Amino acid sequence: MTCFTLIFFATALSLPFVFADLRSSLTSAGISAVFPGDESYTAASRAYNLRFTFEPAAVVYPTSPEDVSSIITAGLDNNLQVVARGGGHSYVANGLGGKDGSLVIDMSSMKSITIDSGVNTAIIETGNRLGDVALALNAAGRALPHGTCANVGIGGHSAFGGYGFTSRQWGLALDPIFAINAVLANGTIVRTTEDSDPDIFWALKGAAPSFAITTSIEVNTFAAPTYAIVMNYSWSDVDYKAAGSYLYSFQNFSLSGPASPFAGELVLSRGSQEGLVSFVFTGAWYGDEGSAIPTLQPWLDVMPPPSSSSLVGNGSYIDSVAELSLPNSLNTSDAAASTSTFYAKSIMTPEGDPMTLEACIALTEYLANQGFFSNTNWFAEVELYGGPNSKISEIANDATAFSRRDTLFTFQLHASSINGLPPYPEEGFAFLDNMVNSITSNMPPTWNYGAYTNYLDDELQNWEKLYFDDNYARLRSIKDHLDPRGIFVFPTSIEE
Ligand SMILES: Cc1cc2nc3c(=O)[nH]c(=O)nc-3n(C[C@H](O)[C@H](O)[C@H](O)COP(=O)(O)OP(=O)(O)OC[C@H]3O[C@@H](n4cnc5c(N)ncnc54)[C@H](O)[C@@H]3O)c2cc1C
Ligand SMILES: *[C@@H]1O[C@H](CO)[C@@H](O)[C@H](O)[C@H]1NC(C)=O
Ligand SMILES: *[C@@H]1O[C@H](CO)[C@@H](O)[C@H](O)[C@H]1NC(C)=O
Ligand SMILES: *[C@@H]1O[C@H](CO)[C@@H](O)[C@H](O)[C@H]1NC(C)=O
Ligand SMILES: *[C@@H]1O[C@H](CO)[C@@H](O)[C@H](O)[C@H]1NC(C)=O
Ligand SMILES: *[C@@H]1O[C@H](CO)[C@@H](O)[C@H](O)[C@H]1NC(C)=O
Repeated sequence: MTCFTLIFFATALSLPFVFADLRSSLTSAGISAVFPGDESYTAASRAYNLRFTFEPAAVVYPTSPEDVSSIITAGLDNNLQVVARGGGHSYVANGLGGKDGSLVIDMSSMKSITIDSGVNTAIIETGNRLGDVALALNAAGRALPHGTCANVGIGGHSAFGGYGFTSRQWGLALDPIFAINAVLANGTIVRTTEDSDPDIFWALKGAAPSFAITTSIEVNTFAAPTYAIVMNYSWSDVDYKAAGSYLYSFQNFSLSGPASPFAGELVLSRGSQEGLVSFVFTGAWYGDEGSAIPTLQPWLDVMPPPSSSSLVGNGSYIDSVAELSLPNSLNTSDAAASTSTFYAKSIMTPEGDPMTLEACIALTEYLANQGFFSNTNWFAEVELYGGPNSKISEIANDATAFSRRDTLFTFQLHASSINGLPPYPEEGFAFLDNMVNSITSNMPPTWNYGAYTNYLDDELQNWEKLYFDDNYARLRSIKDHLDPRGIFVFPTSIEE
């Protein structure tokens, strides 16, 4: 290996240093790999978020769990830290290790999906993206809860939660998982379940990347809904005080517990003048035809008429999945080429302690004023997780490593450079920090809000509590036991 590796990791790891040539050990195992200087290295090591550029020690392409085990062993022999890349959509390029020098295990050659129609289960390899999973399951009349963008990888997504429009009725992407096939830090291949390895299985469901490389997940699937429709209501150029009261009334409606086939999010973005914002509700309904709008009606009754509204789609479930996806297609063949340059933060609001009207208005005032002048493209998205009738919050906070089950709303506060390319403007960091502060500074200091591990924030203070809350202590002790040499280490990984 290069001197680079020696400098960074020989001292970081407390194992006797064994020199072995990484390239030759991978080649002799028949595993393809890309190294610095190779023609394809630049493309292979490019992050989705171009705010980050990292130089992995190598990017390696296994085709089996045995290959993954061999790669981990080669990493150990060369004192390298090892990381998996699924769809590569980590907000902070953690699929590249979140720093220089990691050995990257790219899962893109492991894309099988095996459906057992007799018992309605599926085994999904972690090189698949959400679009691949949705299309394959739908062809068998089945579905899973997961996020909207087709290009996101199921590996990272289901490791940290995985929220989408069917989550209120089916849970997070990690919830239907009943077994996880993985390779541990010592290279051992395991099939973990709640019964076989309660600690490992618990930790993998919400914090997997700190503990193992997941090669496939075994899931219980759901019958694809026979009717699905997307709803879109937009209020353009809303005065900030009105926008704050709309957000508050949406919270009130959410707390009343719309039926579980109902899903929705708000997106607030720049208005055409200082003091105004654009306010859009996008919802979905997976129940009886004709019940979508009546379910939303109690909120529409307290809202002014929208500037525009539409029902999107023709009732087909898979069509609704495509409508909600960006790009508007479930074909992921060009996914590796897509990029952005952005920073994002999140807030998960506790269902038992909802936002005050003052906090809602403080946010919309900030968006309408500072947001109008921001030199970024930004949005503030409010995702409906909870409320009575949500499957997400039916599970206890300590039942899996995913700690923030009792969330009503997950806010995603997101800003990108105007042309989508680097550099991300320096002012864009404080802009989003103050968006968060506009809410939190108007809530009591004891407000137990959280942050979402799939919207990872490399600038976040106190992330242990915000991401993992009361589960962090148990995660640390499992980490200490499973990865004592610190093989799976990246920004915001569980500390030993
Ligand atoms: C455009 C876009 C849209 C999004 N939409 C949603 C959404 O609707 N809902 C939602 O909940 N989230 C959403 N996300 C966030 C997304 O869920 C996370 O970024 C997710 O972690 C990405 O997973 P990945 O496999 O694509 O990323 P990667 O960068 O490959 O991986 C992310 C993390 O998981 C680890 N990892 C990946 N695969 C494995 C594996 N097999 N074993 C162990 N660790 C692994 C990586 O090491 C890294 O730490 C979105 C992100 C983007 C960029
Ligand atoms: C909803 O409407 C807004 C504003 O008209 C538009 O920008 C957005 O693309 C629409 N979304 C869907 C899913 O149709
Ligand atoms: C809150 O919801 C109730 C019904 O659940 C409704 O009667 C009331 O008008 C709502 N208030 C606001 C401020 O939206
Ligand atoms: C719905 O529209 C899509 C194209 O957008 C089409 O492929 C599908 O067959 C249609 N389904 C129904 C039930 O009309
Ligand atoms: C997906 O898109 C690619 C080109 O972008 C095309 O070659 C391929 O045929 C498409 N796949 C399907 C199933 O439509
Ligand atoms: C690898 O680690 C696991 C979990 O700690 C342990 O059960 C197993 O025995 C270890 N295997 C080897 C070969 O040390």
